[in-house]
Amino acid sequence: MICIYNLYDMFFKRKSFRRFDDTLTLSLEELQNIEQHLNEVVPLLHNIKIEYRLVKREETTCKRGEYCLLVYSEQKENYLINVGYILEQLDLWMAFHNIGACWYGMGKPDKLKCNELDYVIMLAFGKSLLEEFRKDYTKAKRKDLEAIWSGEYLPNVTNVVRFAPSACNSQPWRVVRENKYIRIFRSTEVRSIIPKAKLPFYNSIDMGVFLCFMEIALRHSQYEFKRMLYENQKSDAEQIKIAEYTMY
Ligand SMILES: Cc1cc2nc3c(=O)[nH]c(=O)nc-3n(C[C@H](O)[C@H](O)[C@H](O)COP(=O)(O)O)c2cc1C
Repeated sequence: MICIYNLYDMFFKRKSFRRFDDTLTLSLEELQNIEQHLNEVVPLLHNIKIEYRLVKREETTCKRGEYCLLVYSEQKENYLINVGYILEQLDLWMAFHNIGACWYGMGKPDKLKCNELDYVIMLAFGKSLLEEFRKDYTKAKRKDLEAIWSGEYLPNVTNVVRFAPSACNSQPWRVVRENKYIRIFRSTEVRSIIPKAKLPFYNSIDMGVFLCFMEIALRHSQYEFKRMLYENQKSDAEQIKIAEYTMY
């Protein structure tokens, strides 16, 4: 079993798969492993109910991949960040197993409810070949470090967390490092083709993805830290406080 703490190498291998080789299929064992792994991912918030449905891609509006993992959640404080944090672990885990994946915010599922919980987002995926994964992560288009991180850089953290995936590559994360504190914000000033009314939804999921990258990177470098998640933040601020890490 691999756990969240050794997914660091997958930062460099993962990418959004938009083309799949239709001659490759996932075995029953691989599908069972995915379902098994869903019980092992670590949520950000343990008090939020989550359900998953693993369906054939044809049961959704998604046009790529063999299957889709549909995520349903209770709508509690920070539930979107929680979904991002959980599903990114799966995206990285899939890369480890040569399963190509793509977050699919545009997709619509067959059912909007599952056991009373509301549909949030899906991950489309399918068996892929090793050579189809990312070969040179430095070529992935991302904002410059100075645009997202202020304060002292952390080796092997600062320069890798910025490769986290985000809706339309909008990269809403901003980081302020001050002594033993790392403060994470969501910028509401992102320029994107996502309709403004939808930005808080997608960018909140993105923030969960980013926290997942941040924690894997910190642990990889053996930093010990405590996380504090903000609640009830004003949504009209230029930078919304998301989390604060205190390093020991
Ligand atoms: C919350 C979320 C929603 C996304 N929705 C879509 C989508 O609907 N269609 C798509 O092709 N890619 C989607 N993506 C993938 C992003 O476009 C992609 O992560 C980003 O461009 C960076 O590229 P990379 O993942 O290859 O590093 C989504 C990503 C996230 C995190």
